[in-house]
Amino acid sequence: MSGLLSGARTSVNPLRQLTIEQLRQRTSLKWREYPDDVLPLWVAEMDVPLAEPVARAITDAVARGDTGYPAGTAYPQAVAEFAARRWGWDGLAVERTALVPDVMHGVVEALRLVTEPGDAVIVNCPVYPPFYESVAHAGRRIVEAPLGEDLRIDLAALEEAFRRTRAGGRPAAYLLCSPHNPTGVVHSAAELTAIAGLAQRHGVRVVADEIHAPVVAGGARFVPYLSVQGAENGLSLVSASKGWNLAGLRGGLLVAGPAAAGDLARVPFGVSVSTSHLGVIAHTAAFRDGGEWLDALLTGLDDNRRLLAAQLAEHLPAVRYQPGQATCLAWLDCRALGLGDDPAAVFLDRGRVALNSGLAFGTGGAGHVRLNLATAPELIIEAVHRMTSAIG
Ligand SMILES: Cc1ncc(COP(=O)(O)O)c(C=O)c1O
Repeated sequence: MSGLLSGARTSVNPLRQLTIEQLRQRTSLKWREYPDDVLPLWVAEMDVPLAEPVARAITDAVARGDTGYPAGTAYPQAVAEFAARRWGWDGLAVERTALVPDVMHGVVEALRLVTEPGDAVIVNCPVYPPFYESVAHAGRRIVEAPLGEDLRIDLAALEEAFRRTRAGGRPAAYLLCSPHNPTGVVHSAAELTAIAGLAQRHGVRVVADEIHAPVVAGGARFVPYLSVQGAENGLSLVSASKGWNLAGLRGGLLVAGPAAAGDLARVPFGVSVSTSHLGVIAHTAAFRDGGEWLDALLTGLDDNRRLLAAQLAEHLPAVRYQPGQATCLAWLDCRALGLGDDPAAVFLDRGRVALNSGLAFGTGGAGHVRLNLATAPELIIEAVHRMTSAIG
């Protein structure tokens, strides 16, 4: 296990470095929710060792006893440089950012800045389940604008939702998931520009959750929402949590477009200071020095997408899978299997493999499951084997 502490060697597929025995020693949610005979491919944790630059940054901080409150601008600086390098965007202004404890707390904080209790928050279902819980917890009201059949944003449905929610003159926000969880779809520049135009026309404020932005395949291009024309009053959230498996080292960044700087100024001091200093150190190191490790991960995820598609085609051809180009997640349409609304319950019960139930993702989720691809290729094969045995 000492290899784990020193971190992964770069350029080696991080998804191939840990054995199932090592993973079962983990104490995190993915590995502790179910008994040991269950193969867990659900919550978005990755079966990887920590990237070496991240491991070094936090062990150095611990050695210094550097465990106080966060300070300085190293985190937004690292994200700005990453955005310029990877996404060709140099518009992330360090002075228009605020530390937030994590992305979902940042989403709630952003929604509080641009809406009042009782106002509508529009989402593209099926979508990441905590969007529903967090919006409700913040006292706002969810309005669904379902994705199209092709799993892309249906601009007509979105405009209709904008029109409906703004009809009474109350503020409304649109919580965009970019790239989209669970489908892995990367929104194009044209789509994002159209969204910004619609939002402007209807007076809807956009909050873009871009936590999966680093996890975009080499062949695709991630476009930051705030980089498109018309998005000047948008807010976005980023973190290294998904790209480098840092959910246990919490820390997010709220970024404001030029016309949202006034809103950002209203983020209470207590929010930024509640962010973990160790988390900030980890996320900063990931964005600044974790590029090589990330590239190896992205190649491994691409391989796993192809492997899953091939395994399903061979063993479960009735399952529909349109591989996305982003996230570590696969969205599987299992309706043709005849397992009812909740196939994940059948796969768990009879196949001993834990996937996310599509039901939690809102309208359009019934009959679907979400599978986490961030694991060793052998475990993808094993998961399909278990799913197949569940229906046999
Ligand atoms: C779209 C999306 N937003 C937010 C989160 C959670 O982020 P955090 O743990 O920083 O709150 C996830 C986790 O999977 C996610 O997929």
